[in-house]
Amino acid sequence: MENNTLNRDQPLRDGQNISPWQKGEFFLDNAADIFAPGTLYDTLIVGGGITGLTTALLLQTQGRQTILAEARNIGFGTTGGTTAHLNTFFDATYADAESDFSQEAARLLASCGKEAFALIDSLAKQFSINCDLEYKDGYLYAETQEEAKVLQEIFDASKRAGVEVEEADTNGVKVPFVKSIVFKKQGQFHPLKYIFGLAQAFVEAGGVILENTFIKEADFQDEVHTVKADKVIIKAKNLVYATHISPGLDILDIRNAPYRSYVLGLRLKNEADYPQHLSYDSKDPYHYYRTHEIEGKKYLILGGEDHKTGHEDPEAAFKALEEYARKYYDIDAVAFKWSSQYYSPSDQLPYIGELPGGADNTYVAIGYNGNGMMFGTISGKIISDMIIGKQSPYQKLFSPSRIKPVAGFTEFVKENADVAYRFIADRFSADKIESLKELAPGTGTIVKYEGDKLAVYKDDAGNITALSPTCTHAGCIVNFNAAEKSWDCPCHGGRYDINGKVITGPPRRDLQNIAIQ
Ligand code: FES
Repeated sequence: MENNTLNRDQPLRDGQNISPWQKGEFFLDNAADIFAPGTLYDTLIVGGGITGLTTALLLQTQGRQTILAEARNIGFGTTGGTTAHLNTFFDATYADAESDFSQEAARLLASCGKEAFALIDSLAKQFSINCDLEYKDGYLYAETQEEAKVLQEIFDASKRAGVEVEEADTNGVKVPFVKSIVFKKQGQFHPLKYIFGLAQAFVEAGGVILENTFIKEADFQDEVHTVKADKVIIKAKNLVYATHISPGLDILDIRNAPYRSYVLGLRLKNEADYPQHLSYDSKDPYHYYRTHEIEGKKYLILGGEDHKTGHEDPEAAFKALEEYARKYYDIDAVAFKWSSQYYSPSDQLPYIGELPGGADNTYVAIGYNGNGMMFGTISGKIISDMIIGKQSPYQKLFSPSRIKPVAGFTEFVKENADVAYRFIADRFSADKIESLKELAPGTGTIVKYEGDKLAVYKDDAGNITALSPTCTHAGCIVNFNAAEKSWDCPCHGGRYDINGKVITGPPRRDLQNIAIQ
């Protein structure tokens, strides 16, 4: 492993492991210097990932005074852990979009993909962002006849939607296949270089960025949002939650399921084995491949083994992914391993627009599945258009208040059935751990302690940190994520660090710290 744990010379991210993007110096200087308390801003954006920064830059450059508040640092969340594939096809396939929505919806989705890519390209050019942006082909392949049948449907629907796709005689990787198709003009980039370029351009245009500003309360009166963090109060006419899921409890919590995806950055023995393009198999969850060169070294970036947050063993997922990689590649070293969170929407298309049931002029963008760079970018366009009063062609398709037209709902309810179960049963289930003594250093678990349940972490020196395991969002019991050293909530993806501090998801309050005598 080259350098897979955080240290203070690197920007933080929402887990113990770092992605290769975080090799390098990514810090903002003096971005908060022009914050003027008492100013009524046009728009406050909460969240410093690709969605927040794209929205912020588009608004600020159109004359809207914008402020962005990030709970930790720019790129702390999923944008710092994405594999940064730029695709014009999505986890919701064009065949899905046709059958669950309409052929027109599939065409709109295709146009959204093209527009998102074009926007990334044009912002990178306009603001001279050197973000390793490269155009690639994207291979989607089947390993069985059954998968090939589905692939043919995807191919046909993609063509009908107007997407450039062809039959292929390779799949771009060393995995045997029976059928492969290729989407032309896909791409990849370095996500942190890109969003720091956006941040720089935003600040130069007069925008304000406040890092280490965790929003805890928001109130709306007389057309003004008053938003409180520990040290500041911000007033704005529009409020955008670019935080994956909006904080607090709302309808979106039951329409979006949190998932974690696992990634390895592999050094290969044979130079010729590094994939030249992007590749995806047809499994569920699927594997995804690409190559990126960082500081003169190539890495095969391989992802997969996704599962619902807090539901399975993250270390087993990494192990399975490495075993899979070794089956096909001669591996010199596993240089990086990290995991990242995304939300899967109930009907497979993201929710972008006004927060249903929220205060006026409150916007959200959530449910990107594995297509965060594209949907994050188009969210910036859609939300900035809505704030400015321009009509967006995608507004209706992605509207958070849309009534689900057909499929997806039953499946989603099934998938989320454990939410209700965990409210009750997990609080009373039997513990397997007998005592704190049995806990290995560097790990955490839920134990019974003096009649209560505790979330207990033992550090390498044997020091114990104990927390209430009850998630402050809606009361589910958190589970320990041994790979990222975090407490992950299985219900809506709230995550806390080993000291109980919120690192991601809808909770606004930290886990309660329990003193041990
Ligand atoms: Fe909703 Fe924990 S994130 S209960």
